[in-house]
Amino acid sequence: MAAEFTVEASKLNEPFLHFMRTGRPLVTLKAAITLDGKISAPDDNQGWITSPRARAHVQELRHDHDAILTGIGTVLADDCLLTDRTLLARSRPLLRIVMDSQLRLPLDSKMARSSAGDLLVITTSASSADRRKLLEDRGIEVLVFDGPGGRADLHSAVEWLGRRRYLSLMIEAGSKINWSALESSSVDRIFFYYGPKILGGLEALPLAGGIGRRRRADAIDVHRITIHPIPPDEFAVEGYVHVHRDH
Ligand SMILES: NC(=O)c1ccc[n+]([C@@H]2O[C@H](COP(=O)([O-])OP(=O)(O)OC[C@H]3O[C@@H](n4cnc5c(N)ncnc54)[C@H](OP(=O)(O)O)[C@@H]3O)[C@@H](O)[C@H]2O)c1
Repeated sequence: MAAEFTVEASKLNEPFLHFMRTGRPLVTLKAAITLDGKISAPDDNQGWITSPRARAHVQELRHDHDAILTGIGTVLADDCLLTDRTLLARSRPLLRIVMDSQLRLPLDSKMARSSAGDLLVITTSASSADRRKLLEDRGIEVLVFDGPGGRADLHSAVEWLGRRRYLSLMIEAGSKINWSALESSSVDRIFFYYGPKILGGLEALPLAGGIGRRRRADAIDVHRITIHPIPPDEFAVEGYVHVHRDH
């Protein structure tokens, strides 16, 4: 199964080399997408966009990362766990991160209930101190990073991970976080898994929401593309985002 994705020796060191060069983790934006670029259906979001085979590789990708980040929108919609389920030994526990400006994370969510010193919530100074205490009492770490638009700041979260020597971060989130990550130049690499489906409609969420880039000339460039075939009908696209960092 993993044969389609044999990792070149040079790539094994990639997060470390990136970290040594930049002081930040290598940030990979991962998504499962329909052929028409949708990540979510508006009414019933049960079921999967990609096959078990593709999802097995996502688990391998999670295993290769030090941290994984999502948005509160995804936690509320999917009640996801975001754990490494490969059962392979890890050098460091996978740190799970939720961007949650108002601390809406439900205490009975799978994420909160499964917390074992591996859950970090990034919030804003506008969130409730009582709510923060409730989460901290359950062993969940809460950090305040104020960002644009009154939201938790993704860029500061990435910098914080670098200071803690996290070498790699995988973002597995919904449209809003995906756009914030791209817009804030936080993404270094993309890994998009395409399922052989079309959802259509203006309400199905696109990979990246926000205001997007309003002119073709301003589109975010992706280069060094690799296509990973996933027989019989799927493929993943790996590529590197052309990062213009002014911070
Ligand atoms: N196919 C896939 O690969 C995939 C993967 C994950 C999720 N999904 C789907 O995506 C859907 C959820 O999408 P979504 O856009 O609502 O969820 P999201 O992007 O995961 O979370 C969005 C929420 O995160 C919070 N947030 C905190 N800091 C933020 C920041 N800097 N920038 C943007 N948002 C920030 C905001 O709520 P506050 O303002 O309250 O903080 C925002 O509403 C679900 O249907 C889920 O199934 C699909």
